[in-house]
Amino acid sequence: MYRKVLVPVDGSKKAEKAALHGAELASKMNSELILFHVVPSLPPYINNSPDRLSEIQQAIMDEYSKQGMATLTQVKDNLAAYALNITTGIAVGQPADEILKKIKETECNLVVMGSRGLGEIKGYLMGSVSNRVTRYAGCPVLVVR
Ligand SMILES: Nc1ncnc2c1ncn2[C@@H]1O[C@H](COP(=O)(O)OP(=O)(O)O)[C@@H](O)[C@H]1O
Ligand SMILES: [Mg+2]
Repeated sequence: MYRKVLVPVDGSKKAEKAALHGAELASKMNSELILFHVVPSLPPYINNSPDRLSEIQQAIMDEYSKQGMATLTQVKDNLAAYALNITTGIAVGQPADEILKKIKETECNLVVMGSRGLGEIKGYLMGSVSNRVTRYAGCPVLVVR
């Protein structure tokens, strides 16, 4: 039923836990597992800065991308025991928007994600990314706490 399972990961413990749930389900259902990371684009006040900042901007984005790829590799390696068909993907943009795009593009049948991520603000049950994805995704979303 859930041929393709999408797990968005941001490098947080909750996302890693979600990946374990996703892997467990995928192995039971013989599904393909897609790990996906979004490198958050820089806020406009940095983006719109004069040219002399563009090198710094680029360096920040390069560092974020490197970290993102390391996160994907680490989560994938962590799931090696499941012997699953795992693919990874990375995009740059607003995390929730890019995840929603990826859901459509891959035609995945299930999203498994963390309730919270790397955000500092405690007290909310769900972060803004999990909130938006559960609201707008066209497929079932399993939110792992
Ligand atoms: N940049 C990102 N790339 C991929 N997945 C993400 C990203 N940010 C958040 N997520 C997913 O959304 C979940 C909830 O994170 P989020 O809503 O950002 O909460 P918080 O506000 O605590 O950071 C994460 O566990 C992860 O599954
Ligand atoms: Mg976050």
